[in-house]
Amino acid sequence: MKQNLINIAYLVSGIMFIYGLKHLQSPATARKGNQLAAIGMLVAIVATLFFKELLTPVQMLLGVIIGAGIGVFLARKVEMTGMPELVAAFNGFGGVASALVAGAEIARLMAHNAADTGGNEFTAVSAITISLSILIGMITFTGSFVAFGKLSERISGNPISFIGMRLITIVFLLTAVGATIWMAMESGAFPGINEPILYGAIALAVAGAFLGVLLVIPIGGADMPVVVALLNSYSGLAAAATGFVLNNNALIISGALVGASGLILTNIMCVAMNRSLLNVLIGGFGGDSGGPEGGGTSTAGMTVNSTSPEDVAILLSYATKVIFVPGYGMAVAQAQHAVRELSEELAKKGVDVKFAVHPVAGRMPGHMNVLLAEANVPYDQLFEMDEINAEFDTTDVAVVIGANDVVNPAARHDKSSPIYGMPILNVDKAATSIVLKRSMRPGYAGIDNELFYNSNNQMLFGDAKASISAVTNEVKQL
Ligand code: TAP
Repeated sequence: MKQNLINIAYLVSGIMFIYGLKHLQSPATARKGNQLAAIGMLVAIVATLFFKELLTPVQMLLGVIIGAGIGVFLARKVEMTGMPELVAAFNGFGGVASALVAGAEIARLMAHNAADTGGNEFTAVSAITISLSILIGMITFTGSFVAFGKLSERISGNPISFIGMRLITIVFLLTAVGATIWMAMESGAFPGINEPILYGAIALAVAGAFLGVLLVIPIGGADMPVVVALLNSYSGLAAAATGFVLNNNALIISGALVGASGLILTNIMCVAMNRSLLNVLIGGFGGDSGGPEGGGTSTAGMTVNSTSPEDVAILLSYATKVIFVPGYGMAVAQAQHAVRELSEELAKKGVDVKFAVHPVAGRMPGHMNVLLAEANVPYDQLFEMDEINAEFDTTDVAVVIGANDVVNPAARHDKSSPIYGMPILNVDKAATSIVLKRSMRPGYAGIDNELFYNSNNQMLFGDAKASISAVTNEVKQL
């Protein structure tokens, strides 16, 4: 009876996870989606603890208060630009939790065998699921904390490699495969199977921990968001494997959903950057010192037009249609509120204002959407690349706020460019484009941008927030 109630609770939570994910499709419903999925997880946990009589209601309440307290503290403390680090840390904890649960199951099996109460509970299937749980869990744990270190600049963002690294990686991989096979083969030798379980599990944990580090250190810091999405997928797979270890449907369902959605997100990011996953994993693209040298159209000897807030204010105030294109620099400058204020001033003057969001603008998925939503820019003014690209032809002014690679026309025609083939926002098709940035330094891909040298482009140099505020003040006076 109790098991039936638990299964019904798991079914309800599974449905809530799926609806939660569906709501994440749009910024307007994303918050609700998050809440739905979180409540789904609460339902599953409370049902397990309550019906299995593992904790008293008071203990459960204490757990909720402590866990929610830590969650609220972290969510309030972390800067929006620090979000990928927080997600990396969460993934790491998810991975180690899976490995620890598998460890606890091993301790239980060993105690069972030592007591020799009869019956072999350590089957080949449990050997494989436990092995997967430990291995993927430990890879996710150490890999995520290396990603955390790179994102928070506690360790160098440059790709790190050394002679013999591939060989060592292969040795650890073979160790993990060997330990799994050994545990599975010995699983039938009941009752004398405690040694294979213990040594196999230790070998797997050590191999997994080293593999996590070895797989992530060669990847450049700027590619970490893609790695975090991939590790997120791994943490889901580790949880699903743990679900098989414990025979727990809620873990299997939620783990599979996280595994699949993490993989889909990884793929979306790779497609939007026009890079294969393999290229991200071995490419060593983008470290502390920027991206790879070379490539890109030569702009030697070409000059740029620079402009002033006064001139930009006049251009914008008398325009019919203006499209703002935010990028990583808007996040650095925290200019989103100032941008919203400027857009409102222009709307008051009857200007048609829109925002164009590139899928990989910024440094994490949905980076621009989150910032603009935080600044209360109405959702109906936000347009994805495919929806708005055709409109640049009929736009008077396109204002690029700290974006660079995502508006670089070289991606369309320059086969030598590292971003060749990446879909871009067609800012160069607007009657006039204005680029707000501090210098002529390149963006993430480390290449020059030919847009800056176009005759109909003007550069407004300076911090994006200061520049936008100065333009807004001028617009107000017109
Ligand atoms: P970027 O090409 O990185 O360019 C950002 C520009 O912002 C820089 O050129 C910088 O120029 C400017 N900037 C920095 N701080 C500023 C400030 N305070 N005020 C004004 N400007 C400032 O950015 P993007 O166009 O958003 O492209 C994103 C890049 O990141 C793409 O190459 C993408 O593939 C990559 N990437 C994205 C993701 C995700 S998921 N979004 C993940 C990994 C990699 P100055 O230094 O001259 O000011």
